Amino acid sequence: MRTILITGAADFIGSNFVRMMREKRPDVRIVAFDALTYAGNLENLAGVSEVSGFQFVRGDICDAEALRPWFEGGLDAVVNFAAESRVDRSILGAQEFVRTNVVGVQILLDLARQFPVKRFLQVSTDEVYGSLGPTGKFMETTPIAPSSPYSASKAAADLLVHSYHHTFGLPTLITRCSNNYGPYQFSEKLIPLFVTNLLAGQKVPVYGDGMNVRDWIHVRDHCEAILVVLEKASLGSVYNIGGDCEVPNIEITRQLLRLLGRDGSFIQYVKDRPGHDRRYAMDISRIERDLGWRPRIAFEQGLSDTVEWYKRNEDWWTRIKTGDYLHYYDRQYGVGGVVEAAAAGSRS
Ligand code: NAD
Ligand code: DAU
Repeated sequence: MRTILITGAADFIGSNFVRMMREKRPDVRIVAFDALTYAGNLENLAGVSEVSGFQFVRGDICDAEALRPWFEGGLDAVVNFAAESRVDRSILGAQEFVRTNVVGVQILLDLARQFPVKRFLQVSTDEVYGSLGPTGKFMETTPIAPSSPYSASKAAADLLVHSYHHTFGLPTLITRCSNNYGPYQFSEKLIPLFVTNLLAGQKVPVYGDGMNVRDWIHVRDHCEAILVVLEKASLGSVYNIGGDCEVPNIEITRQLLRLLGRDGSFIQYVKDRPGHDRRYAMDISRIERDLGWRPRIAFEQGLSDTVEWYKRNEDWWTRIKTGDYLHYYDRQYGVGGVVEAAAAGSRS
């Protein structure tokens, strides 16, 4: 692999993936493409972006013309992280979710047909399978049954990716991962929201009875699994990725209260999320058996390291909570700086 296009590279998981690639595959040239929506933060790539062999491009995956020069130049791999990713936002309005998560993926797939790439990996989610009862786990063969507009849009993308492999022989891969946590996670998701609220002396809003269960994985483990699938998996395959670690929300909340020295009075039970999936759990035996991958970071250690990271990086999350991070790009590069995709006619 010589050149990789990483879309959604300025987000939580994308930026962790970029950092891991710099460390593990320093010879691979990275084109990091991101629209910098409210969830994208170029500051997440600070330190990496100064390195040669790395180029940041601000652009929208729904804009084929903005993407075309990078495909024309020849890509060994595309890894698509770009998405609208928050379930609660999708309940308020689905349009952006369909645009980026479905239309954006179709545009990437069509470009990959036109300018062949060696591997196209779509980063998907366990939420495409819907919700589990008290027992059982999602397998790759579990029927797709998404319940929120977010997961429906991710499921639609998975089906499109599958169809391009089946119909056109596109060299696709799909990974479906469970809930991630770790450094650089945008503060609207459960763990970073609760950590930063507690650090700021504010209460934490637990939805419903707090007994919804998620399968938690450290973002570093997720990124390593994506790399293994990208490099080793058979084309057309789908792999579940998970932490083998089911925890009810209220248990995470109690662990965070303990780690941050707060008591139960900081818990505020609030109205439940409409259509709230009750339980997710991933069967990861296929990736273990075929590719020899297993998660390595134990949840208690990973959670306590993550809390320490947020303590050390108060400036970073304060800029997010106040909205100041939205100006980072312009402060660093001026309006129209770095490579604006529309103007990116050549690949330096
Ligand atoms: P995020 O919401 O933190 O970031 C999304 C990123 O995509 C941002 O940088 C944003 O600027 C960019 N983006 C959005 N629309 C774009 C567009 N039209 N064009 C270009 N860039 C655009 O997401 P995340 O939590 O880091 O998740 C990354 C991916 O992993 C998503 O595809 C998500 O569905 C998937 N995933 C996430 C989790 C999780 O627990 N966070 C678990 C499994 C899978
Ligand atoms: O399972 C993978 C998915 O995990 C990803 O595909 C999504 O992109 C990602 O956002 C995440 O979705 P969830 O809805 O599971 O994550 P969230 O952090 O929003 O919520 C986790 C659980 O915590 C869920 O049961 C809802 C609950 N919750 C969440 C928030 C933000 C609360 O109780 N209070 C809150 O304030």
